[in-house]
Amino acid sequence: MPSVSALFWAAYPLLLVVVFYQNGLPNFIVQPIAKSSTFNSIWNVFATTHCYASVTSLAPHLPQAHCFSVSNGKFSRVFRDEVPDGNNQLEPLRTGHVIPGLWDGHGHLAQYGELLDSVNIFGASSMEEVQQRLVDYKTRRPEAGTQEQWLRGVGWDQANFHGQWPVADDLEIDSSFQDLYVMLDRVDVHCIWVSNQVLSLLPIKIGDTPGGEIPAKGVFCDNAMDLVLKHYPKPNHVQKTKFLKDAMKELNKLGIVGMHDAGVTPTELRLYERLSGDADWTVRVNAMIECDIRNTFCPKDVSQITTPNGKFHVRSVKLFSDGALGSWGSAMIEPYSDKPSSYGTLLINTTTLSQLTHDWATAGYQVNIHAIGDLANRLAIDAFEAALKTLCPNKSPSDCKMKHRFRIEHSQIVHPNDQQRMVDLHIIPSIQPTHATSDMGYAESRLGTERIKTEAYRMRSLLPLKPVLGSDFPVEPANVFEGIYAAVTRRSPRTGLDASGGKAGWYAEETITLDQALEGFTINPAYGAFLEGKAGVIDVGAYADWVVLDTPLENLDVESLRTLVVRETWVGGKCVYQRE
Ligand SMILES: *[C@@H]1O[C@H](CO)[C@@H](O)[C@H](O)[C@H]1NC(C)=O
Ligand SMILES: [Zn+2]
Repeated sequence: MPSVSALFWAAYPLLLVVVFYQNGLPNFIVQPIAKSSTFNSIWNVFATTHCYASVTSLAPHLPQAHCFSVSNGKFSRVFRDEVPDGNNQLEPLRTGHVIPGLWDGHGHLAQYGELLDSVNIFGASSMEEVQQRLVDYKTRRPEAGTQEQWLRGVGWDQANFHGQWPVADDLEIDSSFQDLYVMLDRVDVHCIWVSNQVLSLLPIKIGDTPGGEIPAKGVFCDNAMDLVLKHYPKPNHVQKTKFLKDAMKELNKLGIVGMHDAGVTPTELRLYERLSGDADWTVRVNAMIECDIRNTFCPKDVSQITTPNGKFHVRSVKLFSDGALGSWGSAMIEPYSDKPSSYGTLLINTTTLSQLTHDWATAGYQVNIHAIGDLANRLAIDAFEAALKTLCPNKSPSDCKMKHRFRIEHSQIVHPNDQQRMVDLHIIPSIQPTHATSDMGYAESRLGTERIKTEAYRMRSLLPLKPVLGSDFPVEPANVFEGIYAAVTRRSPRTGLDASGGKAGWYAEETITLDQALEGFTINPAYGAFLEGKAGVIDVGAYADWVVLDTPLENLDVESLRTLVVRETWVGGKCVYQRE
């Protein structure tokens, strides 16, 4: 609350004028109090009121409004219209169409910021193009590539190299790349491709790597990545702080006010907590704990956190049951259709996963398990089912599920029987709609038509569970409207086309509606973070976060979602992004 230096009452018309000083500058609030005479309205003079052409609140009791007041970073009042008939003076001010601030239900904040600072090789369609982008980057950033500061990039896909894995020698591009330390993440960040200089750090003989693969000289997938990451000079706190804040700036431009960070280590959590009080910490973060050693129980290293400003929350833990589909790492009940010798890789067994789920839930944490393949999803559901049986002896089953809100991150390929079990057990699916449209080109050959038809990339089938939607940025672009487009059309937001190059949509029976998709990026992630009523909604008591669009979402032609840009983004009652 700014310091109030003067209060003036004017007799007629009934106006209350408040002068206060904020950042050393005088501010005036003029508030008519003629129509309302309650204490509430007196209190509201300390609030700022914003009116727009329309406000879509997503609050059931007042879904459409025009104005809201903000006090102390929260909505204190939401109402339809205050302009008396015939008073057109305020009308010109009322442009813009408001929706609640958007949330990404699964992303990686620091990695996203790091990507902004590294070579972007997403969409590079040949080895030559990758090499050209690396050379361009090195020209701009001559300091990159030393042992202390490796040259980093992300976004390659061997599908663009005629299906051939890249090798370390491919990074010997020219003399400027000699002896450089280079590490490039695959598009799904489940494999890395490194230079010979990085390989020279590793032992000459590498034994078995359970849960990992080394498909080519210089490429390391899943657990095998640890061999290299041991030597990677981790960004220090100063660099990491820059990554986080750069990421937030970009996310604000996209209308994003909050995100679930899918894997934050105990040390990073302490950094986040410290930074979350800064004025330029402009994205609310709900962090999932990832212990220093994956898939372990580390309650002594962490604690549950909600900062007073609501910018940082910790209440959940991330566990991993398998790898990713693109590198045949996801664990399958039946072998891959395009690699009959392989079932993928489980990173953990049932006993340990059940035990960890039970231990973390007993310690009061929400458990979110990464699961892509149908075997991994089954394992996660087994673990949740077993845990729920013992966790709430005195609670009704639905109260118990509500209390724990177990989640499956990705829920990508789920056997029909297990889809039903998810519904019965109220397990929250955390889904990335653009994964479906990014994978549709190869998923069918990898999984076969039957699995694609009945198991893979469900959206409408899991709708009763109010799926949390996200992008998994930086794996996919962070743009929520691209995610909404993919969910509504099952077509690529990049091309506007489905897997066969048409407009029908890839397995269009799994599309969801625009409203359902918007809920997936607002109120559903709020519930999935125990923030219902506080986030994803414009309602009294909720964080004052909103996005201003030029056109109401429901009036938009669906194709324009692909290019939609927001006008303004507000977090905690403050404007954090305004389009030029
Ligand atoms: C499961 O994994 C744990 C840890 O790796 C191991 O100790 C245990 O023996 C395994 N259990 C089974 C049944 O394989
Ligand atoms: Zn992820």
